[in-house]
Amino acid sequence: MKKIFQYLMMLTVILMATSCYYDEMPPEAEIVIPEVVSYSKDIQPLWDQDCVSCHKTGATAPDLITANSYLALTKNNKYVIPGNAAASSLHKSLVGDGAAIMPTAGKWSDSKIALVDKWINNGALNN
Ligand code: HEC
Repeated sequence: MKKIFQYLMMLTVILMATSCYYDEMPPEAEIVIPEVVSYSKDIQPLWDQDCVSCHKTGATAPDLITANSYLALTKNNKYVIPGNAAASSLHKSLVGDGAAIMPTAGKWSDSKIALVDKWINNGALNN
């Protein structure tokens, strides 16, 4: 009888320990990628939201505030090589390929990165 009780206790403990199932954190909402990506409407808001706290005038380069970001990114192909997202250091920062991952708080959703990539591959227009 004592054995059965011990057995039931153990079973209870095991059930309790395994019953708390936590789902993974829900992924960030995927965004819809427009046919033509607009730098001012689609891209700059992403910088405003997740980057300018560190990347602003007089702070860490590139300067991503509205007035300066386009030039800061594209001048001398420094961070963006029009038509070639894969070779652009901006893309490498977003995926953490040979560079510190940006934003520092954690990698963006694939769709946000794809949006930036599409803008670059479409010629990195100031549109
Ligand atoms: C908490 C501060 C912080 C935030 C937020 C942040 N960055 Fe950075 N970023 C840095 C620092 C610091 C460096 C330079 C040092 C390093 O490599 O870690 C850097 C470097 C970079 C570089 C240059 C890498 C190179 O090759 O020279 C790029 C491009 C960049 N960040 C883009 C972004 C973008 C885009 C965002 C938003 C999606 C972002 N960062 C958000 C702090 C930040």
